[in-house]
Amino acid sequence: MSPTPSAPTRDRLRIAIQKKGRLADPARALLTACGLSWRESRDKLFCFGESLPVDLLLVRDDDIPGLIADGVCDLGIVGFNELDEQAKARRQIGLADAYQPLRALPFGECRLMLGIPEEWEWSGVQMLQGKRIATSYPAILTAWLAERGIAAEVVELSGSVEIAPRLGTADLIADLVSSGATLRANQLKPVEVLMDSTAVLAGPVEELTDIRAGLIAMLLRRLDGITATREQKLLMFDAAEQALPAISALLPAGSELIRLPGNGVTLRLQAMCQTGLSWQQLEEIERAGGSNLMVLAVEKSLA
Ligand code: PRP
Ligand code: ZN
Repeated sequence: MSPTPSAPTRDRLRIAIQKKGRLADPARALLTACGLSWRESRDKLFCFGESLPVDLLLVRDDDIPGLIADGVCDLGIVGFNELDEQAKARRQIGLADAYQPLRALPFGECRLMLGIPEEWEWSGVQMLQGKRIATSYPAILTAWLAERGIAAEVVELSGSVEIAPRLGTADLIADLVSSGATLRANQLKPVEVLMDSTAVLAGPVEELTDIRAGLIAMLLRRLDGITATREQKLLMFDAAEQALPAISALLPAGSELIRLPGNGVTLRLQAMCQTGLSWQQLEEIERAGGSNLMVLAVEKSLA
């Protein structure tokens, strides 16, 4: 018996992100906010990490799950819709899970929806019996139809799904909807949500054991710090002791109130708020006796 081949070790982490498209810029911005920087290659398909040994591979989003499965990349930023489609497709042919979402990211929100011709009257999923549905998400759609006991034909298309009904190659579609403009432009209307999606950071199911494991852990810590502090605000203000109960009640739930050393009668206070503060909230705090209000954005916190 030959020994089980072990995964190749590497001393640099490789992250796949979309080269062009709606996830490309936010993915890069997020990684930059995590302290990563790169020296770009001329063809810009590979970016060599400068601040840390973390390189980028710029690819088509559809290729990202496969790159992780094959171990070519260690992490990827991809829509959950794409990751789940390919995970379901693998399971349907009996392959083991090879990647998993590690974190949901705050961009790339969209929904996988059924779109029907505008002139149709939607009367529920039963009307899908015997219909032809065009989609780039055949595995998700097939599973969704099966769960509902619907026998419909899944027409797999890799692009331009929304024109299929007009071309007569399908009766309706299942496609991503963000603003809804694409559906409207093609005289279709959204009727049913198959899946809510957002961008995710995906990684392998099997944990890495070499130096890359530490790099991933650090990246996740920094990511969590960024998402946790995105909305956090520090409010500083002066108030008399007796105004505190009323002011506390006006602060966002979970705010932490701290007394700073002051001059006696008027207290100097600071409140760490987990969410942003509206102008109206600030005015109410003033009416309740707060003065010298100052709101500071919390940029980063090291956990
Ligand atoms: C999706 C989808 C539609 C469009 C919908 O494509 O296939 O074409 O977005 O957006 P709208 O509701 O705002 O008009 P996407 O940009 O995600 O590219 P891809 O599916 O080819 O990766
Ligand atoms: Zn795509």
